[in-house]
Amino acid sequence: MATGESFYITTPIFYVNDVPHIGHAYTEVAADVLARWHRQRGDDTWFLTGTDEHGQKILRTATANDTTPQSWADKLVSEAWQPLLEAINISNDDFIRTTDERHENGVRIFLQRLWDAGFIYTGEYKGYYCVGCEEYKQPSDLVDGTGQYEGQLVCAIHSIPVELLEEKNYFFRMSDFADRLLALYEERPDFVQPESARNEVVSFVKRGLDDLSISRSSFDWGIKVPWDESHVVYVWFDALMNYATAVGFGVDDETFARRWPATHIVGKDILRFHAVIWPAMLMALGEEPPARVFGHGWLLVGGEKMSKSKLTGIAPEAITSTFGIDAFRYYFMRAISFGQDGSFSWEDLSARYQAELANGFGNLASRVIAMVTRYRQGAVPETGATTPADEHIYAVARDATQQADAAIERLAIHESLAAVWQLVDALNGYITTQEPWALAKDEANAERLDTVLATAVHGLGALAVLLAPVLPQAASTLWGAIGGEGEVSAQAIDHAFEWSGSGRVTPLAAPLFPRIEADTPATPTPATSKA
Ligand code: MSP
Repeated sequence: MATGESFYITTPIFYVNDVPHIGHAYTEVAADVLARWHRQRGDDTWFLTGTDEHGQKILRTATANDTTPQSWADKLVSEAWQPLLEAINISNDDFIRTTDERHENGVRIFLQRLWDAGFIYTGEYKGYYCVGCEEYKQPSDLVDGTGQYEGQLVCAIHSIPVELLEEKNYFFRMSDFADRLLALYEERPDFVQPESARNEVVSFVKRGLDDLSISRSSFDWGIKVPWDESHVVYVWFDALMNYATAVGFGVDDETFARRWPATHIVGKDILRFHAVIWPAMLMALGEEPPARVFGHGWLLVGGEKMSKSKLTGIAPEAITSTFGIDAFRYYFMRAISFGQDGSFSWEDLSARYQAELANGFGNLASRVIAMVTRYRQGAVPETGATTPADEHIYAVARDATQQADAAIERLAIHESLAAVWQLVDALNGYITTQEPWALAKDEANAERLDTVLATAVHGLGALAVLLAPVLPQAASTLWGAIGGEGEVSAQAIDHAFEWSGSGRVTPLAAPLFPRIEADTPATPTPATSKA
């Protein structure tokens, strides 16, 4: 992708029935890293996140808490979901709530167009529904309950009984779109990623698609169907449209044309909604399908998807309070191959923090800055004649930049970080072999010492630029300490090695990643509801 192009990235909008855990934070960080990277490439970037507030799940939670769904949603959004974004340093450009007037209005326009174009009809729905998933279930999605649910059919994901629905509903003619969807997957092999997710979606659609029930009439917490106010829009149908309503669908054609289509980052559990239903809805209106749908893996605890309903959710603050926000962001992006499941463990987090952030990167920065301060009174020297060792650093920096950028293009965030780390490792090796402290002992080596220090500082500048999307705080501190000009987040990432600065370093007041003495918890700390 050439720089300057539109890059619209989204997270799923989160249910406000409960507070966030690190699984939600994981989705946010991944999308944030991609957004920050693209901004630094000069792309016309827009990053949307938000909350999903309608449906039976929220209604029931509110009722159980003796309040209305609107005040419940307001409370959770202001006390839990918006604070999450600050707690993990998310740089979203917009935050949409499905109770926003702009969204409700956009949904009505979308729906009316579908109705006018003949893609919606009235029918009878009879079947099972899981309120946990907010999804109509096929018998093959269900298992026999055990314990208190003995004798009942339960949802295989939530392990709670499903409900038998028998309602007059409006239906979307999704079955009309199976062939067009298959053609889309065929023409654009990277439309659904990763490959395993694509294969699953293709075989699902090949089995044929049913029409989709898109309204409910037994409760009223939702957006009213424009031509029949006794029905509210099915929560998923409403929620998917947020990606369009947030960028002006139906009301501001210029903004919509500028932003759409989007790259959707979603958990693999909600892939079909995004890779099957949502593109079909768009096709029905003659709109472009999304640019890409990427299904990431789950954070697992004890081999199972971390979830609040199973009491395995860990609050992000349980990690950030000890390790800091940057380390939180780094750990999940580095330790888990994006697209695969990953098991969270305090031991692994602690080990990576120490080896990679504190010793590998932080210590490198402190040492180089301290040596320029001690041997050259803080003035970054000019480079003299270079040796193959210096050339190697320049070459690694160039390669790392290119590889990291190409990996981000493939949405392979972990590979991008691994590429950048080649430069961390190369610089550490360089300092060890060049021994600036030994060169400093003899004035005859002054020019050589100048070159080594200049090369090392230059490498640090490239690292600050390349790591800013993942470690915004540490990169900014480092950038200031080495005299970088302007904000590090404004530096062109695909030219990370061509940065310039004042030529002076300032000692770091504290290590970028201080040693952590406290014992880390041995067992996961459940996220507790603040509501
Ligand atoms: N409201 C819907 C999405 C609508 S998008 C139009 C929803 N919300 S959710 O709050 O239940 O989940 C939001 C996201 O969090 C999903 O992508 C889901 O995969 C992700 N995660 C929830 N638990 C997770 C883990 N344990 N690990 C990784 N991601 C997890 O679904």
